[in-house]
Amino acid sequence: MNDKVVWITGASSGIGEATALRFAKEGWKVVVSARRVELLNKLAENENIYSYPLDITDTIKIKEVFESIIKDLGKIDLCIFSSGTYERKSEKEISVENIKQVIDVNFLGIINSVSSVEKYFKENKSGHIAIVSSPVGYRGLPKSSGYTPSKAALNNFTQGIYFDFQKFNVRITLITPGFIKTALTDKNEFKMPFLKTPEYAANKIFEGLVNKQAFEIIFPPQIAIIYKIFQILPNRMYNYLISKFVNR
Ligand SMILES: NC(=O)c1ccc[n+]([C@@H]2O[C@H](COP(=O)([O-])OP(=O)(O)OC[C@H]3O[C@@H](n4cnc5c(N)ncnc54)[C@H](OP(=O)(O)O)[C@@H]3O)[C@@H](O)[C@H]2O)c1
Repeated sequence: MNDKVVWITGASSGIGEATALRFAKEGWKVVVSARRVELLNKLAENENIYSYPLDITDTIKIKEVFESIIKDLGKIDLCIFSSGTYERKSEKEISVENIKQVIDVNFLGIINSVSSVEKYFKENKSGHIAIVSSPVGYRGLPKSSGYTPSKAALNNFTQGIYFDFQKFNVRITLITPGFIKTALTDKNEFKMPFLKTPEYAANKIFEGLVNKQAFEIIFPPQIAIIYKIFQILPNRMYNYLISKFVNR
């Protein structure tokens, strides 16, 4: 048992839920947020887990939830902002409405979340914010007119605030998972390479946040290697590879 408090958004399913259970198992007090109240309440039947329902696009509610957590649990040591949305079938053509909705959750919703704890962490000169984004944000991909750009913006935002928060002794971590079997990826109609379970992701996230110091937690290793290469490939080679192997 320890006295640490972690706030996890996107905890009603998938990576967020598995990560909540992992931290609770280690004796952390775990605050879980998302919109589906019944799933959060079920999760909160586990020891050390507390349900605080929330839509991260609601700028007023998110501040209220932050204040309730501080009032009820006394503090927050770590935030893991894992909320996200993806509707592959809406992304094949450019739908402005879909793109706005994806950006609203995946990018602006995470900014809301960070904003809700900014003053608290900076004044305390301690704290840790981890943002679940995606390696797909590093370069453009076909049939992903909203999701990939939202994660590109999020990767860039996370790296930017790393410097702004560093001055206040607040740690920022970027989490970039490869394919993990969740409701979000179950809609994919292609075979996902190196697919892993949410529990695998939760272990990597726990180890990376608690026992390591790197800015980015990227997994599995095959995806880490592929994306390190993708990041440095000239456009001509990247475009050729994606056209040949992905855009079929
Ligand atoms: N699975 C993968 O392969 C993969 C790979 C790279 C990155 N990611 C990222 O990992 C994160 C978690 O995704 P997942 O795979 O675990 O999918 P998931 O099971 O669908 O989880 C998404 C979570 O986000 C929450 N959420 C969605 N909109 C929200 C909103 N407006 N306010 C609050 N919470 C909201 C959902 O809860 P409610 O519906 O209850 O609100 C749910 O808990 C996402 O950011 C995703 O982009 C996933």
